[in-house]
Amino acid sequence: MQEHTISSFEEYEKVYGQSIENPESFWADYAETFDWHKPWDNVHSGSFEEGNVKWFEGGKLNITENCLDRHLEERGDKTAFIFEPNQPDGLTRSISYKELHQQVCKFANVLESKGIEKGDRVAIYMAMTPELTIAALACARVGAVHSIVFAGFSAQSLADRIQDCDAKMLITNDGLRRGNKLVPLKEISDEALESCSTVESVIVCQHADNDIEWKEGRDEWWHLLIREVSREHEAVEMDAEDPLFILYTSGSTGKPKGQVHTCGGYMVYTSYTLRNVFQVDEDDIYWCTADAGWITGHSYIIYGPLLNGVSGIIFESTPMYPDAGRLWEVVEKYSVTHFYTAPTAIRALMKEDIDYVRRYDLSSLKVLGTVGEPINEEAWNWYNEEIGNEECPIVDTWWQTETGGIMISPIAGVTPTKPGFATLPLPGIKPALLDDDGNEVEGNDVQGNLVISYPWPGVTRGIWGNHERYMDTYFNKYPGYYLTGDGCRRDKDGYYRITGRVDDVLNVSGHRLGTAEIEDAIDDHPKVVESAVVGYPHDVKGEGVYAFTICEEEITDPEAFKTEINDLITKTISPIAKAGKVQVVSGLPKTRSGKIMRRILRKVAAGDTDDMGDISTLLNPEVVEEVKAGKAY
Ligand code: PRX
Repeated sequence: MQEHTISSFEEYEKVYGQSIENPESFWADYAETFDWHKPWDNVHSGSFEEGNVKWFEGGKLNITENCLDRHLEERGDKTAFIFEPNQPDGLTRSISYKELHQQVCKFANVLESKGIEKGDRVAIYMAMTPELTIAALACARVGAVHSIVFAGFSAQSLADRIQDCDAKMLITNDGLRRGNKLVPLKEISDEALESCSTVESVIVCQHADNDIEWKEGRDEWWHLLIREVSREHEAVEMDAEDPLFILYTSGSTGKPKGQVHTCGGYMVYTSYTLRNVFQVDEDDIYWCTADAGWITGHSYIIYGPLLNGVSGIIFESTPMYPDAGRLWEVVEKYSVTHFYTAPTAIRALMKEDIDYVRRYDLSSLKVLGTVGEPINEEAWNWYNEEIGNEECPIVDTWWQTETGGIMISPIAGVTPTKPGFATLPLPGIKPALLDDDGNEVEGNDVQGNLVISYPWPGVTRGIWGNHERYMDTYFNKYPGYYLTGDGCRRDKDGYYRITGRVDDVLNVSGHRLGTAEIEDAIDDHPKVVESAVVGYPHDVKGEGVYAFTICEEEITDPEAFKTEINDLITKTISPIAKAGKVQVVSGLPKTRSGKIMRRILRKVAAGDTDDMGDISTLLNPEVVEEVKAGKAY
């Protein structure tokens, strides 16, 4: 994997310079390494101002041919995936590129036999097993747009996502087991589908051996459907700009937004970033511990590794099951070379007995990665010393669902690292920091709103069905820039350090949650009149959910009230969004225009109430003292 892989810092500086000077030729050069049915007409067109960015338009391809077919000759027998199941003594599986190709072709034939055509949307709500990947790739093969929904989401969240994109089919499992917990995916799907009239068929992949209800005429078993179909399938030709998938993510307002990624640009971008950031070699074993329900799983479990012909691991369990040694056991078991996880997992594991680490041989590791949230220096140092034995470069990768792939990150072994810093932009990426008036903050040792000033191939092409929201969220505030929603510092050496969201988005254990969604769920409680949710510092989760609620009547049992609130959040969103703290208040600090002044609530939630700042513009300054003095449960 030498070509198009940067191998020294001098080379990085040179390539970066060229990529910024002439992005089109830089990306076209790399795009040419893929199999295209027909070359593109334009490398790039459109702009952020117009919200119509396109890459490789007119180019015809199918991404699965680049993930699978083109490896068959050289790497047919190479392992594409190793499956590590929930139970440590459960059945592991190893799937070669040839087998994966056959499975994807078979399932593509199944999809077509069920009437799925190019452009149709297919929702996937599955356990972390190879079948999830097969389902997604089979969609891509027939030109259907997959929408993977994280299997920890509730029936309501699943229904919202299916309805938003009018999915025609749902693929699920009977259930999944994570640790000791059974999640009845089919039962949850049945509940969701009560309000989803567009779904014509449901394919159920047997996995957890639990009893399920069956709807004749709608539900069919995966294993029965694939029995009769051919192992060959001619991939449907797609335009580079045709949608590949939709993935929903939370924003500061309203319901989650369906980010649309396209076939060509996303392929080029995820592939380039994987090979450069991680520097994966032919015989390496690469493990990203994310769930395929998030963008990290899409880009760095499914597409990025397969595009590069890498051997990856699909891990069904959790870092704590059956004990805090599980991740390290798996590293030893498969001689993992590249390990990519979230800071929240590192913080949780560093609290445990160090013997859970030391009992395993981690000497196979070469590169460590983190993603999803800022990593504190202590966690970075522990990761470096205890897991990497101070010999593995750590890549702190900053990016977002919207960016498709990694944007600011060290290149392993190439970029000198600094704890807590995502360091420098990857080639083709031009970040800038803006002050609140939209002026670029020049020079170093400065801070501002992180924006990207030139389109790259992986950028989201839209919010499904809502162009106006797409423009408002990312492009209208500072014309000509893509707005990330993150605050960022550029230090004296020009290194970037992400400081966290500057909007009302929370980041709980690396999960992105919108305050508005959580407030909507809480407001469904019969006693709640109004609520406001903010984040508070949490030593493992990074951020916890703190809910202030105004209630219609006195709450006599606050613990029980908190449980009811959290049951509601679990039911409407997911247990990942549960409130760690609930405080009942008689009023919320509001500006004269009726907007909640969250800055004050954040200070109270953080226990930092010595200086509340300027509260003179409040409509009801008297509530501040009460909120400060109140108690959270
Ligand atoms: O705030 C940033 C944080 O996660 C947000 C994006 O969340 P999501 O779309 O769910 O994607 C997560 C996986 C790519 C960003 O706006 N974030 C992500 N990576 C980092 C980070 N914050 C600090 N450091 C990172 N490395």
